[in-house]
Amino acid sequence: MTAILSAHGLGRAFRVRKGHLHALTDVNLDCEPGRSLGVVGESGCGKTTLNRLLLLLDAPTTGEVRFKGKSLATLTAPERKAYRKSVQPVFQNPYSSLNPRLRVRRIIREPLAAATDMSRREIDARVDEVLEAVGLSARDGDRVPAEFSGGQRQRIAIARALASKPELMLLDEPVSSQDISIRAQILNVLKDLRAEYGLATLFVSHDLATVRFMCDEVIVIYLGRVVERGPAAKICTAPDHPYTRALLAAALPADPDAPPADVPPRGELPSPMNPPSGCPYHTRCPFSRDVCATARPPLEPTGDGAVACHMTHAEDW
Ligand SMILES: Nc1ncnc2c1ncn2[C@@H]1O[C@H](COP(=O)(O)OP(=O)(O)O)[C@@H](O)[C@H]1O
Ligand SMILES: [Mg+2]
Repeated sequence: MTAILSAHGLGRAFRVRKGHLHALTDVNLDCEPGRSLGVVGESGCGKTTLNRLLLLLDAPTTGEVRFKGKSLATLTAPERKAYRKSVQPVFQNPYSSLNPRLRVRRIIREPLAAATDMSRREIDARVDEVLEAVGLSARDGDRVPAEFSGGQRQRIAIARALASKPELMLLDEPVSSQDISIRAQILNVLKDLRAEYGLATLFVSHDLATVRFMCDEVIVIYLGRVVERGPAAKICTAPDHPYTRALLAAALPADPDAPPADVPPRGELPSPMNPPSGCPYHTRCPFSRDVCATARPPLEPTGDGAVACHMTHAEDW
């Protein structure tokens, strides 16, 4: 199957005062038609950096992103337009992603006018349609964002993303800024839309429970590197990597009798300015031994996924 969007050896280092900050290193992924890919990791692991690279909002320092096989860096103007129509973002915070001065109808209409050749009438009809698809009404189009709750604003952002009939939606923590009571509603709206429109999604989250609900496949990143990937059903119940096990424990109710590997990540995330030698997770890993501090474990295939951990590959561990 041809991926809609794919990352190949993707990396982004930021030049900062004291040197280079490696926000993302050597990431490979495919967003395939109709599939839902999750990207998980603690805050600061590089999820938003990845999302911005995929959205052409930032450029990689190594590797590339391809849209239907073609590097984003070399798209022609018409290909760029096709990309803008096919790949749509929903950001974490609808308070900052929706222009507060514009009526909702205009907020949804503008990207549609830019990405398609639809007539004014067709656009108006489409705006009504997507407002209804996310559980709002056509009349809501005449209001401004301030008149809506946070959850409703995120529905507006989803309607805007849906308007151009994209093939792929990139969602960066779309419910993290919402009240707990609202989150499930929005996730259910997204799930219904996905089924109805056959949409592919890339769903970025720090929470494995959300990802399990939303995704077919999951990539786990730690300090900008993929440490594990596999089917959501496995990654979110019986993962192999000690980091994923810790994330899973963090997503579940606290268990005082849990073994040391199955408790939330201990200590602070190391600085991506000075990532640990060897395995990036070794400084926090309950299984760490000498080799982990000196050799970085490669991401190696397991049955249905891949994991980068000396422990899972060693016979004599
Ligand atoms: N423009 C930037 N300049 C410098 N550092 C950045 C920039 N954007 C992100 N970072 C750093 O990159 C790392 C990853 O950030 P981010 O991608 O936002 O992580 P996440 O979304 O997983 O929380 C963090 O250490 C962050 O401070
Ligand atoms: Mg982020």
